[in-house]
Amino acid sequence: MSGSNPYQDDRGNKDRTITREGGAELGAHPGTGKVMATSEAFLVGDSMTGGYGKGPDILHDCTVAVNPGEIAVIVGPNGAGKSTAMKAVFGMLDLRQGSVRLDGEDITDLSPQARVVRGMGFVPQNSNIFTSLTVEENLEMGAFIRTDDFSGTMAQIYDLFPILKQKRNQAAGELSGGQRQQVAFGRALMTQPKVLMLDEPTAGVSPIVMDELFDRIIEVARTGIPILMVEQNARQALEIADKGYVLVQGANAYSGTGKELLADPEVRKSFLGG
Ligand SMILES: Nc1ncnc2c1ncn2[C@@H]1O[C@H](COP(=O)(O)OP(=O)(O)OP(=O)(O)O)[C@@H](O)[C@H]1O
Ligand SMILES: [Mg+2]
Repeated sequence: MSGSNPYQDDRGNKDRTITREGGAELGAHPGTGKVMATSEAFLVGDSMTGGYGKGPDILHDCTVAVNPGEIAVIVGPNGAGKSTAMKAVFGMLDLRQGSVRLDGEDITDLSPQARVVRGMGFVPQNSNIFTSLTVEENLEMGAFIRTDDFSGTMAQIYDLFPILKQKRNQAAGELSGGQRQQVAFGRALMTQPKVLMLDEPTAGVSPIVMDELFDRIIEVARTGIPILMVEQNARQALEIADKGYVLVQGANAYSGTGKELLADPEVRKSFLGG
């Protein structure tokens, strides 16, 4: 069962082989609001402007993107529009300007469900599990678009998160915060996504559990699944990020490699606590 597990190689976020230096098209643009060229990215929310319903614009010309094998991290203050940007990329928001492209195809007008069929997995910030269902039922719900045998995928997820196997018949609502995040993460993996979007995957967990979750995220990224995630633990997240975006008031304020952002005095002072 674990012999062919693609997630099962060389765990540990001390290994920096996942974080590519340089990142070719990337470069920090402090304060300019300009982002790096992203037109070729595997998943890109490009120059997105829009808000909720008929309400005011929340996003202002916001761009986020991620490529295979990469972890891209979105950070920024509360209310900056990080979740809104994720929802826009996933099709839960009507864009007034800009577009979303997946693997070269314009998917701006597709429903969230159609995007899942195209290979997008999304774990939202809130209500990301069914608390009254068991762990295993949650994973089965995740496989809703699949008509093939998904038992192998479930075995992979249990190898990735052994505690979930142990608690497979327990109601998900009875689990700890970190375990619930594992269920949400696992549920999204059940569709075998080509790209994964995670909104605050370590919300409400201890630093140790956060490190463990980051390890699992790195492990999944290493299998080739690009990961676009929002994180409130900005410093730690940028340490594992191939590239990062700082959003402020719905716009790109800074962008660059995780390393560049961590080294940027302005970013440090304003967003990383000095
Ligand atoms: N469903 C909604 N309807 C209307 N406005 C909303 C909705 N959700 C969020 N907003 C508004 O959009 C703005 C950005 O919120 P968003 O949740 O995207 O921020 P965030 O960066 O994810 O914040 P946090 O760090 O607290 O998660 C806020 O002004 C918020 O009040
Ligand atoms: Mg949010």
